[in-house]
Amino acid sequence: MAQDIHINAEFVKGATKPEHFPVSTLPEIAMIGRSNVGKSSLINMLVRHSRMARVSNTPGKTQEINFFVTDLEFMLVDLPGYGYARVSKTQREQFSSLIRQYVLHRPQLAVTCVLIDARHDPQPLDLAMLEELELGGRRFVVLLTKCDKLKPGALVEREAQVRTLVQSCNNLVDVLCTSSETGLGRHQLLGLMKRIVTIAAAEKV
Ligand code: GTP
Ligand code: MG
Repeated sequence: MAQDIHINAEFVKGATKPEHFPVSTLPEIAMIGRSNVGKSSLINMLVRHSRMARVSNTPGKTQEINFFVTDLEFMLVDLPGYGYARVSKTQREQFSSLIRQYVLHRPQLAVTCVLIDARHDPQPLDLAMLEELELGGRRFVVLLTKCDKLKPGALVEREAQVRTLVQSCNNLVDVLCTSSETGLGRHQLLGLMKRIVTIAAAEKV
């Protein structure tokens, strides 16, 4: 069995506007996706801490950009979910401009993990986010979430569907299957994050 990767993390700050983003030179790895897709749960699964990032059954729980510093020389960033219908239209637009500002323009951002619920077809907002990242020339990984909820055959089909969808993207790094319940994909994802951070550091020199 591959050796376990340890990672510790600590909350740095929450930001509701770009002026509040932390001043730091560490590369950042962000989690983005529809509300309730499992962004905060995935961060908790990676760091093996059940309450590092706030998880809830109520969509729209994470309403600010939360930064966590890790002992692997990068920051993990938990973004507010998109597509949550119950917040006001203005609030929704505010989130989306904050998210867009962050994922398209944050210099420290090394890679964005786009989380997609493995139980459903990718939704129009997921496709729009993938397109923004691709056109914006920003590196991304697709993470299928809640894979524990699917039968093996259905998961293989979903992964193949999503791989086909993004196969022509220049900025795609990989597509991984994950579950915050079972830890599926943890080792692979942490390994990939470590490699990307090394690449990002080399690019900076
Ligand atoms: P927002 O902050 O509202 O955008 O949501 P989020 O994307 O951070 O989702 P969150 O991690 O809060 O999880 C939402 C719900 O999905 C919670 O009830 C979690 O317990 C559940 N959940 C998250 N990941 C998994 C998973 O891998 N498997 C299963 N079965 N449930 C999950
Ligand atoms: Mg959240």
